[in-house]
Amino acid sequence: MSGADAGTWERVARVEDVPTDLPLAVTLVDGRRLCLVRLHEEVFAVEDRCPHRDFPLSGGDVVNGCLECPWHGARFDVRTGQCVSGPSEGDAVTVYPVLQVNGVVLVGGAVGG
Ligand code: FES
Repeated sequence: MSGADAGTWERVARVEDVPTDLPLAVTLVDGRRLCLVRLHEEVFAVEDRCPHRDFPLSGGDVVNGCLECPWHGARFDVRTGQCVSGPSEGDAVTVYPVLQVNGVVLVGGAVGG
């Protein structure tokens, strides 16, 4: 995907502020809540809502490249949004495109989920 496909990009955090073992909750200007997840030097953004019971994912852990829901343990691949295990298997969370520019995390329009 090119940057032009994502429409407006919004600055949400600095890369160094995103932990590597926990999600960072951020809120876009329009009120949408997202979780940023950092895997090594790459940052991913998914909606902060578990499709199982609509509870927030932002209190969860990052486990093996997945964001684990703190409520009932569903795990979501942050690259694709797909639930790979747990009670929400087969569902997906919305994934947002991410750019990193000079250490700043920018989030664009949603691309799936
Ligand atoms: S609310 Fe996320 S697994 Fe139940």
